[in-house]
Parts: sequence; C-alpha cells; structure tokens
Amino acid sequence: MSITTGDFRQRVTVHTLSEKKRKHEPIVSITAYDYPTARLADEAGVDFILVGDSLAQVVLGYDSTLPVTVDEMLHHTRAVRRAVHHSLLVVDMPFGSYHTGTHVALENATRFVKEAGAEAVKIEGGTSRVPLIQRMIDAEIPVVGHIGLTPQSVHRMGGYKVQGKTANAVDALIRDAVALDEAGVSALVLEGIPREVATRITAEIATPTIGIGAGPDCDGQILVFHDLAGLTFHTPAKFVRRYCNAGELITEALQSYRDDVRSRAFPADAESYHLPREAQSALGEPDVAPTARQK
Ligand code: KIV
Repeated sequence: MSITTGDFRQRVTVHTLSEKKRKHEPIVSITAYDYPTARLADEAGVDFILVGDSLAQVVLGYDSTLPVTVDEMLHHTRAVRRAVHHSLLVVDMPFGSYHTGTHVALENATRFVKEAGAEAVKIEGGTSRVPLIQRMIDAEIPVVGHIGLTPQSVHRMGGYKVQGKTANAVDALIRDAVALDEAGVSALVLEGIPREVATRITAEIATPTIGIGAGPDCDGQILVFHDLAGLTFHTPAKFVRRYCNAGELITEALQSYRDDVRSRAFPADAESYHLPREAQSALGEPDVAPTARQK
C-alpha cells in the first residue's frame, strides 16, 4: 500500500540539485538504510536519499562509522534501491574504501553504481580528495563532497567536535569548499560548522550545499532518519529535530503485544484460521465458530 503521494514526481538527478540551488528551492535529504525507511522517504518526496555510513552506528550498533565495510554498504544500498523510484540515490563510501589508493577507490565506487544502483557516491575530505574526485567524475561517477565535522576523521579530530571555529580553520574550510566546487562535486555536505561559515560557503560556491548542524542558510538539509524519527538510544545532538518518537510508539506496541500474549488476549478467534465445516464434522468437532470460518 502506498502511504503518501501519487506517482507524479519527476526523478531527481544530480542536475535537479543545481537547478534547485539556482531557483533557491531548498533541497530535502535524509538517510535510509533499508527498504521500508527508503520507501517512506521516497514516497514523502525527499529529493535525495543517502545510504550513509552512519548505518554503522544507527543500525549495526557500532560506536563509530569506521567499522562498516563495502560489502555491508552494498547490501543495504541494494535494499534501498529496490524502494526508491524518484529520489536521487547517493551512497557513502565507507572508511578505508577510498583512502588506500585511487585504483581501489575507483573499483569500490564502480561497485556501488554497478552492483547496487547508486547514482552518486559521497566521500569525506577537502582539497586532498580533489584528484580522486576528478578521476571518479572522469569514470562517469557523480560525487558528493563532505567537509567540516567528517565522522571518518574522528581520531584525527579527537572526537566529534564542531569544526571551523578559528579564523584559520574557517579559511581552510572555505579553501576546501572552493576546491571541491571547482573539481565538480554534485553537492557538498557541510557538517558541524558554525552557521556563519556555512552561509559564506553557500554564497561563494555554485555547488548546492547540504547542511547538517550547519544552520539554515545552506541550499538544503540532511538528517539521519533514526534521529528524525526518534529511533536512537542517545541524547540527540543540538542540530537534530525529532519529528516523531517512533521509539516510544514501538515500545508501547511491543509492551501491549507482550501483555496480550501473556493474558491470552492475542490472538483472538477472528485472528485464527478454522477448519471447513465438513472437516470439522468428520472429526466430530462441534461447530464452534461458523462466522469466522467463512472468512
Ligand atoms: O552517514 C551519514 O549519515 C552522513 C550524514 C551527512 C547524514 O554522512
């Protein structure tokens, strides 16, 4: 059953994103890691869906994004692909999949497009990634950049800290953004940076910026699905807005189910199958539930 919109939407491509920046139309983005969440996001009219490596934390239970593998990302991307018919599908290249050499990086990026149906790959990092980004674009693979608080750099950063808080750090971020813009990225995620810095970058580059913890002046916004839906087990970061508390709803449902099974209130007769009347009388059973049996 389709839950929300009809099928009138055009497919979103990387060109739609620049078109939206040109028209000052905010770009809506969300992560998804499986068929149901991706389908809900696609049907809700989200512009691009990211199979983020945050999968490692919110779905697989790791305490950072570092352990998730290419094969795990491929597995989840395929499930998301089967659900997405309108949104642009972007996948995160996980830690280690593009850090050890251009050839390996291109092979991994190609797998995401060829084997899982991704339409763009996202990689973290600034100017040092420019040669790799150019090779990927040469190989017909659109790239989304990601600068600021880049979770794959957690050890270098010494924790998950807001970036770009000194004049030097701001200059470095702007240099990174301009370099990625010139390299031809299709969008640039700005994570965990002061609003003022995101505003300057957004004004300075042609590439659409997508903020997460970067204030309201970016060309678009992205949130982690499980943060938005209240399906995480920690206190959310300052930038998260919880649009519902699915965790609480699901907990209440599970507790009701537990209580109903224990009190034998579930399943009811109406939720049970019945023998046909003939089989019942052949077995000498009383005809206990004729109404339910006919269903
Ligand atoms: O993995 C992720 O969830 C991300 C964010 C930008 C949402 O990279």
